[in-house]
Amino acid sequence: MLVGKIIGKTSPENYQFEVTGIIRKMDFVAARDPERHWILGRIDDIIQDKDLTLASVSVLGFADKNDAVKMPRMPFKPGSYVYKADDGLIKKVLGMKGSGMYIGLLDGSENLKVYMDPKLLISKHLAVLAKSGFGKSYLVGVILEEFIEKQLPAVIIDPHGEYSTLKRPNNKEEEKKYMPKFEIEPKGYNKEVDIYCLEKNLTENARRLKFRNKLTHQEILDMLPFKLSSTQLSIIYSIVSDSENEEYTLDEIKREVMKAKSQSKWNVIPVLDMLKSTGLFDYSGYMNPAELVKKGKISVINLKGVEPDIQQIVVYKLAKDLFEARKKGRIQPFMFVVEEAHNFCPERGFGEAVSSRILRTIASEGRKFGMGLSVITQRPARIDKSVLSQCTTQAFLRVTNPYDLKSIMDSVEGINKGLEGQIKSLPVGTACIVGVIEQPLLIDIRIKRSEHYGIPAMITDKMKDKEEDSSILYFYPKILEEEVKKYVSAATERFKLVYYPLHRLRCKFMTKNGEKIDSMHVDGLTGELVYLKGDKLIRTDGLSRLLNLDMKEKAVLLFLTSYGISNFQSISSKLKISEKELMDIMSRLKRLNLVEMELLEFKSNIDLNFEEILEHQISESTVSYRYSGEVIPSKIRRDFLDKILDLFNPNEFENKMCYYPYWIMFHSDGNVEIIDAITGQKDDYLKNKNILDNLPL
Ligand SMILES: Nc1ncnc2c1ncn2[C@@H]1O[C@H](COP(=O)(O)OP(=O)(O)OP(=O)(O)O)[C@@H](O)[C@H]1O
Ligand SMILES: [Mg+2]
Repeated sequence: MLVGKIIGKTSPENYQFEVTGIIRKMDFVAARDPERHWILGRIDDIIQDKDLTLASVSVLGFADKNDAVKMPRMPFKPGSYVYKADDGLIKKVLGMKGSGMYIGLLDGSENLKVYMDPKLLISKHLAVLAKSGFGKSYLVGVILEEFIEKQLPAVIIDPHGEYSTLKRPNNKEEEKKYMPKFEIEPKGYNKEVDIYCLEKNLTENARRLKFRNKLTHQEILDMLPFKLSSTQLSIIYSIVSDSENEEYTLDEIKREVMKAKSQSKWNVIPVLDMLKSTGLFDYSGYMNPAELVKKGKISVINLKGVEPDIQQIVVYKLAKDLFEARKKGRIQPFMFVVEEAHNFCPERGFGEAVSSRILRTIASEGRKFGMGLSVITQRPARIDKSVLSQCTTQAFLRVTNPYDLKSIMDSVEGINKGLEGQIKSLPVGTACIVGVIEQPLLIDIRIKRSEHYGIPAMITDKMKDKEEDSSILYFYPKILEEEVKKYVSAATERFKLVYYPLHRLRCKFMTKNGEKIDSMHVDGLTGELVYLKGDKLIRTDGLSRLLNLDMKEKAVLLFLTSYGISNFQSISSKLKISEKELMDIMSRLKRLNLVEMELLEFKSNIDLNFEEILEHQISESTVSYRYSGEVIPSKIRRDFLDKILDLFNPNEFENKMCYYPYWIMFHSDGNVEIIDAITGQKDDYLKNKNILDNLPL
C-alpha cells in the first residue's frame, strides 16, 4: 500500500516523506534506493505542519541475494514512493525466526508472528516491567504456555495465586473473539501444571511446599536476620560455630538456644517457633528439586495469603536449593520466574529481604549454569538495580512513572528518547521487547490459550489508544517527606500525605479579542471555588449556598455581591422585580444569613469576587501520578458543577479531577495541623472548618 512520497534532504540512514496514506509511529515502511533495492525503514516520528503530514524514517536495511542484511550506500531520491512494508521484507531484514515461542504479532506489520527463542530466557534472563494492569502476568502466562508446548520446565513464584488458571482452557468470550486473529485455540494445561502451597493453605489439588528439615548453619543465619538484633543473632552464631554438626533441625537449634545464658534467648525462641510453625521444615518428606524441575512441567509456588517474611524465606530456600541442584547438574536447565520481584530483591533503601542475596547471585551467575531468572514488577525503580541490569531480554508494557522510566532508561542499552515516549503510551497487551533481535520490537501479545486469572481488562476492545487515568491529575508536592520533618514537633505523633479533591473546570470563552481560556478549581468537599493568592490557597465563602437558591434569589444575591451595598428601590428597579416579591426574597435571604440589613441598605454576606478568582487561578502544574498518600474522594455531584458553569456560561468547557496535596500532622493531644504541601503554609481554613476531621484518616 502506498503511504507517501519522499521529500527534502535524505541520507542512506534517514529520510522524511509526505504522508498520504494511513501510517502510525513505529510502523514499518519500504522504499527503493537508487540501486533499486527494497529498503526497510521504521517510522520514528510523525508531525503535522498545517496541511502537510511528515513522517521521519530510520532505515533498517535490506536483504541481499544471500539474505545477508546490508545498509544502502546511496541517499534516497526525493520523489521516491514509500509503501507499507510487507511481512516478508520485515522478516528477512529483522532476521526474525519462524520458530520458537509464539508470543504475538508484530505491531505495524500485517500478520507477522513473532517467535522468541526460549534459550534466550534461560541463558539471558528476562525482566517484565509495566504499570499495574497492563498485561505483565498475561505475558508471563503466554510465555509459560509456550514453555509447556516446548517441553521446557519452569518454576514460578506466585504471590497472588493467579497462575493456577493455566490448568483451565480460556473460555472468556471477550478474549475468545480475538483468537482467530492470533490463530489460537482454547487449551488447558491441567496435567502439566503442578501447584504447591504451604501446609495451612493446602487444597485438594495442590501439593505441599516443603523443604528438607536439616539446615546448614549458614542457611539458619541467612533466614533469621529479618527479625533478630545482632546480639540475638550472636547467640545462634555461637551455637553453630561451637558445634561439630554441619546441619541442624530447627528443634536441635532450639534445644541449644535454650541452654544459652543470655536473656536475649527469649527473643530468639519465638522466631524459631515461627519458622517451625510454617511447616516448611518438619520431618515428613520434602520436595525434591528433580520433582519440581522436570521436562514439560510448570511448578507454581502459590504464596497467596502467606506473610511477606515467610514468602521471602520460601523464595530464598527454593532459589538456593534449585540453584545448587542446577550447578551440580541434578536438574535440567529451566526458568525461575519471580512475580512482584521488588518484594524479593528490593533496591537499597526500599527495604530488606532475606531472598535478595541469592537472587542477585542467580542474576549474575545463573546464566552460566542454565538457570534463567525472570523478574516481574510494576515498580522498576524499586527492584535491585544489579538484578535488573543482568536481564538482557526486557519486555515493557506501559510505564508512566518518571522514576520507573528513568530506571528503565538507565538499565537498558539501546533505548532512545523515542522509545521512552512509546513506553508511556502503550495500550494494554502491547509490549515493547528488547533483546529478541537487535531492534526493539513492538508486539501485540497474543491471546492466551489457557484462562487468565483476574479482573477483565480495563480496556477490552483489543485495546488501542485508550488513555488510562487521563482525567485524573495530581499536583506534585513541593514539600516532600524529608522536608516535612521540619514541621514535626515533640507533640507530633504521626504525619501523612493526603490528596484533596479539586475539580478543574477549564472554560473556553469567545471574546472580541479571540479565544480566552480560564481554569477554575472547585473544592470537591465544600463546593467553593479555590484560587491561589500570593502564597495562600483561598476559598470563596458562600458559593455553594448561593447555588442552591432559586433563580431570582440568586440574581438578587449576585447583584448585591458585586455592587456592594444597595437599597430596596434600586434593586427592585435594576432587576425588575416587584417590591412585594423582593420583600419575600429578602426575608428568605436574611433567614439563610446570606444578606444583612444596615439602616435601609442591604449588604451581601458572601464573599465572591469573580474577577479576583479568575486573576489568581491555580497554575501549579499537574502530573498524572501520585507521590504517595491517600486520595480523598470528591463529594460534589455533576449537577452542582453544572450550576457553577451556568454562572460563567463558557462556550466550551472540560472537567478534570485534580488532587491537591496536604500533609496532616497528628498530635498526641488529638490536635491536627494541616500543611499545604505545595506552599508550605499552614492551612487554617480546612482546620477551622473541621473538614478533614470527618474523613477516615
Ligand atoms: N495480551 C493481552 N490480550 C488480551 N487481554 C490482555 C492482554 N494483556 C492483558 N490483558 C488484559 O488485561 C488484564 C490485566 O493484565 P495482567 O493481569 O497481566 O496485569 P498485570 O500487569 O500483571 O497487573 P498487576 O501489576 O496488577 O499484576 C488481564 O486480566 C487481561 O484481561
Ligand atoms: Mg500481575
